[in-house]
Amino acid sequence: MEELDLRISKVLVVGGGNASHVLVARCGHLGIPCDWLTTFEGEADKLKAALKASNGVIATDHQTGEKWFGRPERVSGDPADVVPGAKLIILTLPAFAQEPTLKRIGPHVSPDSSIGAIPGGAAIDVVMNNALGVEKVNACTLFGTRTLPWACRIEDYGKRVTVFGTKESDQIVVRPKGKKFMVAALQEIVGHKQKYILANNFLFLSFTMPWHPCFMYGMFKEWDGKTPFMQVPPFYRSISQFTAELLSHTSDEVMKLRNKITELYPSIDLSDVIHVKEWVRRAYGTSMPSTDPNDLRAMIAKNPTYGESLLFPMKKVKGGYVPDFTSRYLTEDVPYMLVVHKGLAEMVGVSMPKIDMLLKWCQKVMEKEYLVGGKLKGRDIGESRAPQRFGYHDFETFAKAMRYI
Ligand code: NAI
Repeated sequence: MEELDLRISKVLVVGGGNASHVLVARCGHLGIPCDWLTTFEGEADKLKAALKASNGVIATDHQTGEKWFGRPERVSGDPADVVPGAKLIILTLPAFAQEPTLKRIGPHVSPDSSIGAIPGGAAIDVVMNNALGVEKVNACTLFGTRTLPWACRIEDYGKRVTVFGTKESDQIVVRPKGKKFMVAALQEIVGHKQKYILANNFLFLSFTMPWHPCFMYGMFKEWDGKTPFMQVPPFYRSISQFTAELLSHTSDEVMKLRNKITELYPSIDLSDVIHVKEWVRRAYGTSMPSTDPNDLRAMIAKNPTYGESLLFPMKKVKGGYVPDFTSRYLTEDVPYMLVVHKGLAEMVGVSMPKIDMLLKWCQKVMEKEYLVGGKLKGRDIGESRAPQRFGYHDFETFAKAMRYI
């Protein structure tokens, strides 16, 4: 019955970027009414103007040629217009925009709504608690996914978006556990090309691997800080054996953290936390049938979803290109992922030498300070999602507050 209710109710898409465009088109394709909220300064007006001209958003699946068309019922920049009464609220935002947006929509969210983020990202539940208040969060159904189903880019704002690739599977977590209908509803909305696998515990989302920082380190670790590169290398296609091994080693450390937590608290089910090799196999397995499933470098370099057009973030300068260390690959993955791993590891006493090394390099090139003397006590911790930033220093207190145990 609940499933049926969800299918006919409206979706509120929050965010105005690439993924939001695809979601709006998906809703239209399925005949699900949707509203569209973007709290980003001036964006709602831009969207309204574009939609007036286009009549709706067309998403094109680059691989199959399939097209989805959707037109939101209402577009707004003000949460008070569209959040009250919204039963299914889906945030599709860069991680740095999740918390400010949740703080703005929080007062208008009804306690009986389902709210979550695609992608969710590490500690999204902690962020929701902080932004919406524990009481409201505990009354809502929460969901979060590990990543986004699509590699997608807007072609024409408010008009056209292209889906370049779709993952085969992703993991999703829902709280409370009984609300499994959420998975079916979200599966329907994003489409069945990518399968959602239900994970057991929200803590699982905090184990997302430090993917992009490894690539950035692998490519730029020896850069002298001044000499321009002649060209911009492809992000995935140019992956070295060194980078693949770093991905694997940092993932080993994340698995060590998982094992320690489950050893200390056997009731926390983190069996969904998987090694990076396994994740790549599951997410893209059948699209790379002839690739050795143990060769991480080849699995990434030959992956058709990671085309030639996905390049390293670099800035054009006189004589070539230099790395852009203000890129989201670092500004998202470091404070919202690597620092979270380190924060959890500190709480349960797990050493992570590779992650420490990566974090030290990242904070240097980003001109940030998280780690000082091997401890998370740098001046920029307040911008991160480490549990310590939210006042938790003891794992058991944290786990109880977040309903992991
Ligand atoms: P995007 O870069 O297109 O999102 C930009 C949008 O975020 C803006 O249009 C605005 O609506 C919102 N925004 C930006 N700053 C804001 C602020 N200060 N306050 C409120 N809203 C703000 O992001 P995209 O591509 O839709 O991706 C969403 C998430 O999915 C990101 O975390 C991204 O890393 C991840 N992802 C994206 C993939 C893709 O191919 N687009 C692939 C895999 C993951």
